[in-house]
Amino acid sequence: MTPQHIELVKSTVPVLRENGVALTTYFYQRMLNNHPELNNVFNLDHQSTGRQPRALAAAVLAYAEHIENPSVLAKAIEHITTKHVSLDIRPEQYAIVGENLLHSISEVLDVPMDAELIAAWKAAYFQLADILIGVEKQKYENLAAQNGGWAGWREFKISAIENTETAKRFTVTTQDGQDVAQAEAGQYVSVKVKVPAQDLEQAQQFTLIPSNSAQSYSFEVRAEENGTEFSVANILLSHYNVGDVVKLSAPLNR
Ligand code: HEM
Repeated sequence: MTPQHIELVKSTVPVLRENGVALTTYFYQRMLNNHPELNNVFNLDHQSTGRQPRALAAAVLAYAEHIENPSVLAKAIEHITTKHVSLDIRPEQYAIVGENLLHSISEVLDVPMDAELIAAWKAAYFQLADILIGVEKQKYENLAAQNGGWAGWREFKISAIENTETAKRFTVTTQDGQDVAQAEAGQYVSVKVKVPAQDLEQAQQFTLIPSNSAQSYSFEVRAEENGTEFSVANILLSHYNVGDVVKLSAPLNR
């Protein structure tokens, strides 16, 4: 990035932050309209609360603020990339997010897409995207290289559903008969299910219960009172039975 780009980006962070809701609302609407397949990637239950939508744009703004010294964001980058890897976010999806984010910035700041300001934001966004893509590539490689490990999604069959005091404990076993990576205490997986009566998948994270099994994982599922039709926990509890298949990403640390 040129020094002029850096100045342009930094000077527009405050006004974008002030218009944060407009920015994220416009961004998600535009992106999900143009790329409906991403409805399978983003958690639509979280979308309705507005919690996650704000997180992505807020992270881009925070990065822009510290563009000259991105190392202050190392912790955030670790957190975001872990979440992305647990959801199998791919490098090519960064271009889609970038294009839609830039259009949203142009809309909120009321400047044309060919303005120098948008070129500056483009450079900033892709600088951040390249950092995230690089860290995520390394994480996917590490997961795939583990004993019993894998990158992306893997199919598991529900082998038991047991009542606990406050929830239900789901145990899932590999479909391919191969071993799984040993889970450590506190690690989580993303679980992907089909949304009933819709051509749509949704994923959510669940903390693993340590077990000695070489081919299965267990996790607790609690009903979500305020969950929408897209709540993975509620879908698992109401629509999934022993023998049904779900997809899991490999265990990761929080
Ligand atoms: C520079 C680009 C990006 C930034 C700064 C960013 C930032 C973030 C942040 C801060 C979160 C919240 C983490 C948490 O749960 O606490 C998040 C989650 C997420 N991101 Fe990204 N992200 C970027 C690109 C992408 C791309 C390209 C995709 C895929 C299309 C994506 C998909 C997701 C999804 C699915 C979640 C989980 C939220 C949910 O459950 O709906 N992100 N991201």
